Amino acid sequence: MVRISSLFPMLEAVVSNIAEGVLIVDKKGNVQYQNPSAAELLGLRPGQPLSKLHDVSQFNLQRAILKAAIDAGEVDAAGQPSGAFVQFEQKIHRENGDLYLEFYTGFVNCQETHSQARLILIRDRTQQRRLEAVYQNKYPDLESSDPHMLEVVDRIRQIAPTNAFVLLQGESGTGKTLLGRMIHRLSSRGSHAFVELNCAAIPETLIESELFGHVKGAFTGATQDRLGRFQAAHQGTLFLDEISEIPLHLQAKLLRAIQEQEFEMVGSNKTEKVDVRIIAASNRNLRDLVDAGEFRADLFYRLAVIPITIPALRERPGDIPLLTNYFIARLAARGYPDDIECTHEAMRMMMNYPWPGNVRELENAIEHGIICAEQNRILPDSLPQDIFAFSHKSETPTLDVNFDVHQEREHEILLALQRANGSKAMAARILGIDRSTLWRRMQRLGIQ
Ligand SMILES: Nc1ncnc2c1ncn2[C@@H]1O[C@H](COP(=O)(O)OP(=O)(O)O)[C@@H](O)[C@H]1O
Ligand SMILES: [Mg+2]
Repeated sequence: MVRISSLFPMLEAVVSNIAEGVLIVDKKGNVQYQNPSAAELLGLRPGQPLSKLHDVSQFNLQRAILKAAIDAGEVDAAGQPSGAFVQFEQKIHRENGDLYLEFYTGFVNCQETHSQARLILIRDRTQQRRLEAVYQNKYPDLESSDPHMLEVVDRIRQIAPTNAFVLLQGESGTGKTLLGRMIHRLSSRGSHAFVELNCAAIPETLIESELFGHVKGAFTGATQDRLGRFQAAHQGTLFLDEISEIPLHLQAKLLRAIQEQEFEMVGSNKTEKVDVRIIAASNRNLRDLVDAGEFRADLFYRLAVIPITIPALRERPGDIPLLTNYFIARLAARGYPDDIECTHEAMRMMMNYPWPGNVRELENAIEHGIICAEQNRILPDSLPQDIFAFSHKSETPTLDVNFDVHQEREHEILLALQRANGSKAMAARILGIDRSTLWRRMQRLGIQ
């Protein structure tokens, strides 16, 4: 067991090395501690520590805290911040571009002096806000604030104008088709055709003629010439969905067609030439299939010049409330009521659900929720049975006699923090509690 006092130097080392800014301020506004990140984020000159909170020159931090407390309803009888943790964001103008800082602040008890001090945590949100700004204007049909997803969007913005082949991988319903269309739209081919072929939806025997077309008499039933998808996509983009389902014997032909941009129609020996960009999609891991000998390595490498993996919805729970509101608005445009509200309990249920069908399933769940809403409020009951039943199952208390509420809570909190990539705001949302409650529970349970 490590003695608490011997932990202090270690904790101090941790706090002075993290990217978050940390300030501790007494009740009179005197700064008792600041870490190097706080100095950097607040634009202080090195070696010139803050002595008072109101010495922050770029904006009025004290007033911003008061405003955040008022907005959150966390003020005492005297109209002063109650001490409960509140969160706000502040935009700061700098010569080399705006800086977005997120503040999270409240009182902590200082046991030794029996007094309270204000803890202020500062986080740089600039990169995230910049990515959001880029995509918000440009991609009206895509909603996300997840860092991985925003990276995907940024990569797409970068590679869309080129002719490079793209392989989109992700579970069903994560947005592969949506992103495929987006790449096409943002490319110089955008005014030409976007042609889709779902390789899983067509009988094996017909795939070749679907891809390359056939001439009259090529097989029984081929009563006239028919062009294939390659020809239809000339100068545009061919989206090959579920590419893993292309039979092995056709893979060599497909490789030649995409590599040389030439092929023969079924039943013909005349070579056709095209100019087609290929975007392939798969919900199975193609590399695994290559390793298992079910997919040609040379075709895989040709298709996966730009491989992009889309995270599953359960890996980005923060997108759930965002997408919920997005779909509510979109469905309103289709004639559903426009004052639908999703209750806290229903949202909590959705945040805890693993979404095997990803965004597509969420979209359907919202429509179900709206149809079964009570007085325009989506209740837990309004959601599809799967979601309701899942939450019911996971909330049934265990009969274990050693069942320990604290242990359970700790586990739940650690899991939520893990799912939220360490973001307390997000973890609190997942748990359906507010940030200050989470903070208090973490303190009580000794979770750092
Ligand atoms: N990030 C997103 N924002 C808004 N809608 C999305 C998002 N991702 C997916 N969707 C919607 O969810 C549904 C499923 O997406 P889709 O691209 O068809 O998935 P996939 O092709 O991976 O199965 C579509 O209606 C799509 O418009
Ligand atoms: Mg699709």
